[in-house]
Amino acid sequence: MVKKILGFLVLALVLVISACSSDSDSGKKPEKGGENADGAVEIFSWWTGAGEEDGLLALIDLFNELHPDIEVKNAAVAGGAGTNAKAVLATRMQGNDPPSTFQVHGGEELNKSWVAADKMAPLNDLYKENDWMDKFPEALIDLVSNEGNIYSVPVNIHRGNVMFYNMEVFEKHGIEVPTTLDEFFTVAEKLKDAGVTPLALGDKETWEATQIFENLLAAELGTADYIKLFSGEIEFTDSRVVSAAEKFGKILDYVNDDHASRNWQDSAQLVAEGEAAMLNMGDWAKGYFVNDLKLVTNEDFGYFAFPGTDGDFAVITDTFGLPKGVENVEATKQFLTVLGSVEGQDAFNPLKGSIPARIDADPSKYDDYGKDTIEDFKTANLFPSLAHGSAASEGFVTKANQAVNIFVTQRDVDNFIDALQNAAPDM
Ligand code: BGC
Repeated sequence: MVKKILGFLVLALVLVISACSSDSDSGKKPEKGGENADGAVEIFSWWTGAGEEDGLLALIDLFNELHPDIEVKNAAVAGGAGTNAKAVLATRMQGNDPPSTFQVHGGEELNKSWVAADKMAPLNDLYKENDWMDKFPEALIDLVSNEGNIYSVPVNIHRGNVMFYNMEVFEKHGIEVPTTLDEFFTVAEKLKDAGVTPLALGDKETWEATQIFENLLAAELGTADYIKLFSGEIEFTDSRVVSAAEKFGKILDYVNDDHASRNWQDSAQLVAEGEAAMLNMGDWAKGYFVNDLKLVTNEDFGYFAFPGTDGDFAVITDTFGLPKGVENVEATKQFLTVLGSVEGQDAFNPLKGSIPARIDADPSKYDDYGKDTIEDFKTANLFPSLAHGSAASEGFVTKANQAVNIFVTQRDVDNFIDALQNAAPDM
């Protein structure tokens, strides 16, 4: 893990055959047609319904257009952040019934859950055939690699430390964007006094609250020490982690009472409707606001970095690999080729709310939020998301989610820190 995480500090066939070789540096175009229609490509993800599936459907449409002879099966299982999908996937993988390809976060989720269990086929040849080695940021390739082999293809980069806000509510109550946690608490108090819920939360699935906590960790520790926390060089008993936990408790005083019965979309709706002022959510919420709720970026809602993390970027990357034992290997590689192409990424990401993982995608296809985020990614201090599987193993994430869930109801800082420290060996 240390090696993978260090990548952040450093930063910054397929048989798409001969016909592709003439394509320009903007990325090889996936070849039209394909004679390897050896069974349906089953694409497993958790992108269903509101705010989630538009990008996937656009990608599948593009694939169908390029490969009309290869059948695609969309095997998505509902539940934000893979709450249900990951359990279904685990059962299938254990039963040697893998989907052709599946959504998996780059980093420890890929490496500790599937690569370490020898369930994934290396994709080094696919990267070479498509000239991908210099088309993805080195830090991302590092996140999907292990001991010299590359195991998946990143389709996007989501940012997790974004605060979205209702612009009308801010204006009506004379609120300025808070950049520090102190400013956030001042603003939150003012909103609460005015009868507005300061921060929308929907932690029915817990990860939504864990995501707030990870951003507090980055704010209190800074990204370099956040990274050291998850590589085991800093203990969870560190005073700055304790301070993050205390502030977490204080933030929970400003969320909607019914947070435990809402999911992320339900909490985003509170901000869209002006019942709540702010929402900390990964930028899939932008896709939801724009595509599903028809809100306009920088008119209806604005965005800023989670207070205390300006200049930092919580990285979440959705990637797809090739499980061992899949029958239709070549057809699946064709799908991965489209997913990793400029065309594939530019079909998917403007709808998903994320930015392309490729560095040579076309920024003009993205709205102001996307353009800003593409620029921010180039210079920001990157840190891997805990809630979304990059910073630590699934085993640790599950325990951290349990600890967060208990903390949200009991607010016992000592118990919370103990639970995290006890889970640390699982990282
Ligand atoms: C995924 C995103 C998804 C979000 C909510 C995250 O873990 O990386 O693609 O939109 O969960 O389901």
